[in-house]
This record gives sequence, C-alpha cells and structure tokens, in this order.
Amino acid sequence: MSDRVSVLALADGRLPLDPRRFDVDSKGGLAAAKQVVVAATDRPITVREASALRSFVRRGGGVVLLGGTLATWSSSEAIRELAGWMPTGPGPLTELIVRPDHEHPVTQRLDPEWKIRDRLYLSEGPPAAATILLRASWRFTEQVVAYERGFGEGRFVYVGLNNDGSATFEKLIGRVVLRAAGRTAAAPVGVGLLGYGAIGRDHAASIADTSGLRLAAVCDLSPERREAAARDWEVRTHVTQDAMLDDPEVGLVVVGTPPAAHANPVLAALAAGKHVVCEKPFALSVDEADRMLDSAASHGRLLTVFQSRRWDPDYIAMRDVVRSGRIGDPFYMESFIGGYDHPCDFWHSHEPISGGTIYDWGSHYFDWILQLFPARVETVAAQAHKRVWHDVTNDDQVRVDLLFATGAQASFLQSGIAAARKPKWYLLGTAGAVVGDWADAPVPADLPAQVTVFTPRGREILTLPSRAEHGFYRNLADHLAWGEPLAVTADEARRNVAVMEAATRSIKHGGAQMKVEI
Ligand SMILES: NC(=O)c1ccc[n+]([C@@H]2O[C@H](COP(=O)([O-])OP(=O)(O)OC[C@H]3O[C@@H](n4cnc5c(N)ncnc54)[C@H](O)[C@@H]3O)[C@@H](O)[C@H]2O)c1
Repeated sequence: MSDRVSVLALADGRLPLDPRRFDVDSKGGLAAAKQVVVAATDRPITVREASALRSFVRRGGGVVLLGGTLATWSSSEAIRELAGWMPTGPGPLTELIVRPDHEHPVTQRLDPEWKIRDRLYLSEGPPAAATILLRASWRFTEQVVAYERGFGEGRFVYVGLNNDGSATFEKLIGRVVLRAAGRTAAAPVGVGLLGYGAIGRDHAASIADTSGLRLAAVCDLSPERREAAARDWEVRTHVTQDAMLDDPEVGLVVVGTPPAAHANPVLAALAAGKHVVCEKPFALSVDEADRMLDSAASHGRLLTVFQSRRWDPDYIAMRDVVRSGRIGDPFYMESFIGGYDHPCDFWHSHEPISGGTIYDWGSHYFDWILQLFPARVETVAAQAHKRVWHDVTNDDQVRVDLLFATGAQASFLQSGIAAARKPKWYLLGTAGAVVGDWADAPVPADLPAQVTVFTPRGREILTLPSRAEHGFYRNLADHLAWGEPLAVTADEARRNVAVMEAATRSIKHGGAQMKVEI
C-alpha cells in the first residue's frame, strides 16, 4: 500500500488528503487527471467537462464527488449516467447521525454512529447498481449518504457530506479516493499473542473485536495460560516461540512478555518476517530499542508499541485543550501517580525484570508528556527513595524532571509511599492551565481524572469524550488495511525509553542532571 495516488482536486476548500499518501494537484484542468478526480464545489460543470469526466471513468479513472457537488452537477446528462442517481435537496442544516456499513472495507472500523452537522441530500430510491457506504435516518426514512459503483473500467464514489474537520471525514475521504483508484483493503492479518498473562486476555478481546485482525494463535511458556487461551478463544496454542513464528497463519506478533523479555522475541519475530506490536515499556535501554528499530527497517516490517493510554478519555480531553491553543503555550507540567500501598510481590516490583519503578507508569506518563511537549529534551534529572518497602527491589518513590529546548519543564512523580495524593496532571500554559484531579476512589488509577481548564476568566470542568473502544487496534488495522498513519510510531517509543534510561542513569549518579538530546 505504499504507492502514492495522484488526485486532481476540483474543490472550493482544502481537501484533507494525507500528503504522505496522495499527490494532490488543485491547479490543473480535467485534462490533467491521472488517477482520481475529487470534486467538492458549487461551481456548475459544463457539458464538455461532464462528458470528459464520464469518459475518464469509463476508461478506468476514479471520480469522487463530495457534499453538494452531485446535486449541482446532476442537471448534466453525462453526470447522471455516471452517478446512476440524482439527489434532491438539500435539507436544513442539522446534526445528522450517519451510520457506516461495517462489512464494507471502506467503512470498516469507523465509529458505529458518526454525528456530523450538515445538510442532507434526499433521494428517490437507491442509486442504480451501487453499494451503499453510509446511511442516515431522516424523519423515519433511511437515506443514502454515500455509495460507490463501477462505471466502465472505472469507479464512481459519492459522499454527500462536507469536510467537518473530523478525523472520521479524513479517514473516509482517504479510503474512498484509494477505492476510486482501484485499490482494495489489504487482507485481514492473523495475530499471534506471545505471552497470555494478565494483559493477554485484553489483547485477545480487542483483536477478536477488530475487523481486519484475526486472533490466529497464542504462545505461552505456561501450560495453564495456554489452556486458558484455548478455552477463552478456541485458538491454536504453541508451546515455543519458534513454533509460533513458524506458523504461516501468523502475520503479526504481539509481544506481551515481561519488560526485560521484550527485545529478544521482537527481534526474532521481525527476522521471521512478522509485523510486531510490543507491549510497553518498549525496551529497557535505547540500545535495545535501536536494535528493534533497525531490524524492522531492514526486514521491511511494521513495529509499534502498545501505548494504549493515548486513548484514555481524560488524556484526550487535556491534549485537545492544548492543541486548541486555549491555554496558550504549555511551559510547565507536574504529573503524579501513586498512594500508600505495599507493592505487589510479582515481577512488576523486581527491578531486573521490570526495569525499575520509572518504567512502569513512566512509560505512559512520558508518552503523554512527549506528545504534549514535542520539543527536544535537553536535560533529565531523577531521584529515588528506598525507605519503606524493603521486600522488593523497585524503588518506593521516583521523581523525574525534564527540561526541553524551549525552556519548558515537566516532572513525573510515582510513589508507593504517598499518603497524600497530588493531581494527576497540573499543566500551565501562557494563557491558562489544565488540571487533572484523581477520582475520589480507593484505587483511582484506572478511573479517568476530572479535567478542569482554568483561564483568567474562570474555570470549566470538561465533559470527557467517550472512550474509542479498541482504539489502538483499530488504528493498527486501519494502517495495515489502507496505509493510514500509525498512531504510535516506534521512534516515539524510542524517545520514551531514552527519557527513562537517562532518568535511571541520573538516579545512579545521585540525581545528577543528565545532558541529553532526546
Ligand atoms: N499497556 C498497558 O496498559 C499494560 C498493562 C499491563 C501490562 N502491560 C505490559 O504487558 C506485559 C505483560 O504484562 P502482564 O502483566 O500480562 O505479565 P504476566 O506476567 O501476567 O504475563 C506474561 C506472560 O508471558 C509469558 N511468557 C514469558 N516469557 C515467555 C516466552 N519467552 N514465551 C512465551 N511466553 C512467555 C508468561 O508465562 C506469562 O504468562 C508487560 O510488558 C507489561 O508492562 C501493559
């Protein structure tokens, strides 16, 4: 799916087509069309242009008409023949509930209900010889919002919606353009889970629920875990890693072993030609991360990291406030997780396997921080306390301070000896602030924080967005099927590891400030 698609845009506004995948020409006339013409305009079409467009599709080209373009152009006989349908309207501007066809490769994995403010073009019956992609309810009738049909050697697509600036619109437009260019979604990918521990069932459930992915196999050293997987999912199980990597049904491996045991299976899976999802923390050292990145590049395979908390509704609410510019330029952040509790006596508390306290929640917190502060990290300093829980090797408390090239500062505190909690996030910008307050519960870590925006004019407690179910895996499947951008790149995860490694070094040097370029 790496071949770029050439698009001739006849649009009154900007089309949200990803420049990494589409070459968009918005200046040329129809004669310049190579693969796909996308039109989103209220400018009428001439008889000569309409007939040129019809011939272009007949010869194998693709045409995508957006918003009210088809309604404007359907007085032309050539366009009516191409479209096989004539919309009437539009109706009044209102919020429409648009429902995608979840079986169709173009609309798979879109939200089941997409709310968009737009005008609906009504229809007399369905379009001729077409496949419906989107429908909306209108006064107790079901209306066609988008469809596609073959015409001659080419393909015609209609999407009767305007760009609402949403990620859904961008996704949809990318896919219909690929479809109009004659592309099909890549075949579903068989997934093998390496490690079926505490988090294994969550991975399996998400994979089973995500079209484009198929749970193909599970491998675990433990016979009990293998039995549990076979019982839970009726899936083939493998006793050894090698056996799973030899399984032709497995195209992608999820490495869900403990942190010190990530790199070796990731390298083996890449060398066996599999795509890889690695659990967080990606690695315990930059050297390990680099070896994995190099191997993915040399084997031409996908490598990503399960930074699942990028989809947490409280984080998304905070991130969207920052991106909107509402708090100005973010320059200072404190973040915290913890309480006063005896650590577990499992590998999670044993430094040689866990990597140490920093690598646990740190791999989520630094991922958030690096998303919010994209500038280069210039110094890292960290201190640890070992005062109370001597039966485990992880530190009781760690604090990490980052200084960015812009002068911005961010800190992370994780403590198992904090009888009083601090807010989860305290973020200052030049025009306002965002604070994430822990829910008032005995174990608040898995509940979303209450997110409040402060400006000099007052405060607002945000309504959190609903959680995008299986967000990580939906994005992964979108990437595999259509080449859509991966949400979590291995390079981002490498930066995260570099911060945690520098912090670990700083602790060993008594809290010294480490000069870094991350
Ligand atoms: N993203 C998140 O929010 C999140 C949450 C929990 C755990 N995790 C991460 O997931 C990973 C696993 O955590 P867990 O809590 O499920 O651990 P776990 O110990 O419960 O499970 C690990 C499993 O891997 C198996 N295993 C170990 N080495 C193996 C090998 N070489 N071949 C096959 N199987 C092997 C073990 O038998 C065990 O069943 C860790 O990296 C952890 O940090 C991430």
